[in-house]
Amino acid sequence: MRIDVVSIFPEYLSPLRLSLLGRAQEDGILELEVHDLRDFTFDRHRTVDDTPYGGGAGMVMKPEPWSLALDAVLAAQSAKRDPELHAELPTLIVPSPAGELFTQSLAHELAGEPTLAFACGRYEGIDERVLDWASERFRVRPVSLGDYVLNGGEVAVMAMVEAVGRLIPGVVGNPESLVEESHSDGLLEYPVYTKPSSWRGLDVPEVLLSGNHGRIAKWRREQQLRRTAARRPELLDGADAAQFSGGEREI
Ligand code: ADE
Repeated sequence: MRIDVVSIFPEYLSPLRLSLLGRAQEDGILELEVHDLRDFTFDRHRTVDDTPYGGGAGMVMKPEPWSLALDAVLAAQSAKRDPELHAELPTLIVPSPAGELFTQSLAHELAGEPTLAFACGRYEGIDERVLDWASERFRVRPVSLGDYVLNGGEVAVMAMVEAVGRLIPGVVGNPESLVEESHSDGLLEYPVYTKPSSWRGLDVPEVLLSGNHGRIAKWRREQQLRRTAARRPELLDGADAAQFSGGEREI
């Protein structure tokens, strides 16, 4: 997969060069380019913002640098998109608290794309005409990490690129670890323990020491359901909760 990110703070994204995603880039599984929006300006101050029409607090990102940056992204991505295989428009994610919610299911959907582009807004946001203009070239998707406000899109992009990147085949060494984790089946993950079996007076649940794989699987499923019911009850409506044998909803 090829990922392009446009930001006025390219260094913000540098942790994406570390750890599993860093290795994936070294191995050629993932190609990541971060573009500095200011490289697409022509004035001495490399201006990317201006005052809002209609008045109000803060500044708005100017349209012209964005169109030039996104043209550069399209040019860079075109080599990765075979028109026979990828007839649809490439995806452009615009992180925004006003977007659709980012979920594991969206991460899976995005992980199937040959290219992804991310446009990091700052200040009060990007001139809306950029999104109209970009809609003819990309499938534009404003996406929110959650119901809170960040200072800009960079932190949201880091979270989304990590969540998507780890789903690309070959990025996570043991693909089984992707199966038994929170949200993979719509539920929260069961609790985990390691040695010693008794620590500061706290014992590992006996069932996990039993060696009985059937009992262990049943216990883990029950724990998933109890935990989901206690912490995120709204998730139970969407999950396959048919096996919930516990009855009550507290841990
Ligand atoms: N930018 C600012 N707040 C955000 C959020 N909650 N999600 C995604 N992008 C954002």
